[in-house]
Parts: sequence; structure tokens; C-alpha cells
Amino acid sequence: MESGTYKMTRLSHDRLAKQWVNQPSYFDSKIKEGHVNRFFRAVGKGALVLDAGCGLGKEAKMLISKGLRVISIDTSKGMIREARKIVPKGDFRRIDMLDLKFKDKNFDAVWCFSSIHHLRKADARLALRGFNRVLKDRGILAISSKEGKGWYYNIALVNGMRLRRFIKQYTKPEMEKLLTESGFKVIDIRVDRSSKRKDWSRVVAIGIKTIR
Ligand SMILES: C[S@@+](CC[C@H](N)C(=O)[O-])C[C@H]1O[C@@H](n2cnc3c(N)ncnc32)[C@H](O)[C@@H]1O
Repeated sequence: MESGTYKMTRLSHDRLAKQWVNQPSYFDSKIKEGHVNRFFRAVGKGALVLDAGCGLGKEAKMLISKGLRVISIDTSKGMIREARKIVPKGDFRRIDMLDLKFKDKNFDAVWCFSSIHHLRKADARLALRGFNRVLKDRGILAISSKEGKGWYYNIALVNGMRLRRFIKQYTKPEMEKLLTESGFKVIDIRVDRSSKRKDWSRVVAIGIKTIR
């Protein structure tokens, strides 16, 4: 059952969807280009990718344009609604990454950017085990989270409403451990401080599924 914290985070994303659509900087793909290209080199054209926590679909759009087949999932109705308008070619489904409705070894790769940090650490482990299950042998996982220590509630003011979202930050060693404990060998891990927001650095990792 969805916890109160996750429900609050989901409803905040529902409301943030409209706000982010009107924020052109949100669609600035330059920041993510390097990460998408590295992922693409590891995965190859035509691969079937699970885009977990897709938000408005901006990365789905980039991945589709590179010739990847993408299934995008998110728990927020608002995000899915807007993503379908922004990326008409996309395949957007309302599915929780903690309850993946896909068969074993279905995907060549998983792309999970800036969404794992909305889960508590124990749940992040469950999500990664799920990614491992739905990935083919030697499948690729690209994952990013906000970099830092501990957790907090991010607060955004939208139309006079205080929207709160749970965020669990990861240090680089912590992210590395999360992957190795969930059946992935880390092939690339780095901290990205290129965001225009001074308070926002990311830890970004690429892992390969090791046989479990
Ligand atoms: C900050 S947005 C990131 C969106 C996009 N990946 C990006 O980097 O722009 C985080 C997204 O994760 C989604 N999310 C949070 N928890 C989730 C869960 N358990 N399953 C699927 N999506 C989830 C939120 O609804 C939100 O759309």
C-alpha cells in the first residue's frame, strides 16, 4: 500500500507537472546529453528501454530520437497526462517502479533518472531488484539521484500551495553499493555538478546486470 509520504510526493508531482511544462529551462537537454550519449553507447540502437520515473518524458523524447524503443512509467497522473501531449510518439504508462508489471528479462536496458531519490533506501533496493528482474542478462541500468547525505522534504511553492516531495540523497559510494547489492556491476559512476542550481549535484551511474 502507498505510504502517506509517497502519496504526498505523487500529488506534488501531479501539481508540478503543469508548472514544469511552462518552464523552458526544464527542457534544456544539454545537461543530460552526455549521460544519454554514454547510455546509448552502452545500449545500442533498437534496444528496448524501460524509462522509470519518466516525468514529462523529456528523456523519453531524447532516447526515442536515437532509435531506442522506450516504455515510460510514472506514478503521477499529471506527469503522464502532460508527457503524452509533449511526446505523442511515446508509450507512457501509469506503473509504480516498485511493482513492475513486466515479465522477467523483458528489457535490454533501464533508464532511471532523478526518480529513485523519491523512494526510501529500502524501497530503492526493491526497485533495483525489480529492474534486475526485468532486464535481460547483461542488461544495462543508467541511474541518477540527487547527490548528498541523508533525506529531506523538498518544498516548492506553486499558486500559494506548499508542495512537499520526499528526497533521499546518495553519496557516490552509497550509490555504488546500492547497485552492487542489487546485482549490478558498476561500469561508470560520477558526480555531475553541471546543474545551474548551486544546491543540485547528481550522482550518475551505469551498471551492467550480473547473473543472479
Ligand atoms: C524529478 S521527476 C524526474 C523525471 C525525469 N526522469 C527527469 O529526469 O526529468 C521524478 C519522477 O519520478 C516519479 N516517481 C516517483 N516515485 C515513483 C515510483 N515509485 N514509480 C514511478 N515513478 C515515480 C515522479 O512522479 C516524477 O515524475
